[in-house]
Amino acid sequence: MTSLVDRIHDSILDTIGNTPIVRIQHLCPKPGVRLLAKLEGFNPLGSVKERIALAMIEAAERDGRLAPGQTVVEGSSGNTGIGLAMVCALKGYPLIIAMPQKVSVERRAILRALGAELVFTSETGGTDEAWDIADALCADDRSRVRIHQYTDDNNWWAHYRGTAREIWRQTAGEIDVFVAGLGTTGTIVGVGRRLKELRPEVQVVAVEPEAVHSQQGLRNVHHARRPAIFDPSVVDRTIVSRDESAFATARLLARREGIFAGISSGAAMAGALEVVDGMDEGTVVVLLPDRGDRYLSTALFADPGDQQVRPEQVYDLAARRGGTPAEA
Ligand SMILES: Cc1ncc(COP(=O)(O)O)c(C=O)c1O
Repeated sequence: MTSLVDRIHDSILDTIGNTPIVRIQHLCPKPGVRLLAKLEGFNPLGSVKERIALAMIEAAERDGRLAPGQTVVEGSSGNTGIGLAMVCALKGYPLIIAMPQKVSVERRAILRALGAELVFTSETGGTDEAWDIADALCADDRSRVRIHQYTDDNNWWAHYRGTAREIWRQTAGEIDVFVAGLGTTGTIVGVGRRLKELRPEVQVVAVEPEAVHSQQGLRNVHHARRPAIFDPSVVDRTIVSRDESAFATARLLARREGIFAGISSGAAMAGALEVVDGMDEGTVVVLLPDRGDRYLSTALFADPGDQQVRPEQVYDLAARRGGTPAEA
């Protein structure tokens, strides 16, 4: 495994991937089971999606679909947009992202900071509507290039070639189960396909949200539009994730393991714990897609009481020293 810190990189793009795997210390209930988390929040802008953003842009350049002077367009609930914004900023392509209004303010702020232009769906619109808006934005304009994470084979390929290889090396091939959430399905298809080629006994477990949910980044592929890249034959088992359990497990990850991750990481970890429950020994690898700081304003971590400092929270140093505030 190449280390990220032992050399000078040509650009920020070279620091994508090679994320660490850590052992879950407290939440894993079975002493004989090794539960390992691949922390994609370690990517430079904090999510797994930077891998596919780079792969899709470089493939479009190679194919001659994207050249200097053109504008990149994508529909995204945030993380792919942020990945694309980083890549496009460096390479000099203007970027337009169509996104649902309900996406967290942190994601919008990061996208704007990176110079992306944002276009929003209707108030209730989801990623399917964002997808249609991105299509419409490119329909009659040849200066715009549509990048489509739900149909682009470079999405799953980035995981097949990168993420899966890292997991295989990091575990020295000792892996029995791989668990990940379903969004575009690129992670599960790419990693699952490669791991099964390397070791056919590996079980691939997909975590899918309920039809109506608040798990940003995840998609119920049986109720919402099914991504063209989805290959159900890679999946051995699907676990349905409820909002309450995804949110509660993300909070537990922070408080018990010191792992500050997002809602879909809570969903994936809850799924992994369900898998572990049925095992006595073996190794489970669960992929945690992004960092928690992207959700500070959402119901995951926002505490209305945090907005203001209450008098009882103030430590009165001067009074305890017996002096006046001015002397403190
Ligand atoms: C936060 C988050 N978690 C999970 C996923 C799902 O990953 P994939 O699209 O590879 O299925 C995404 C995808 O957008 C995401 O943004």
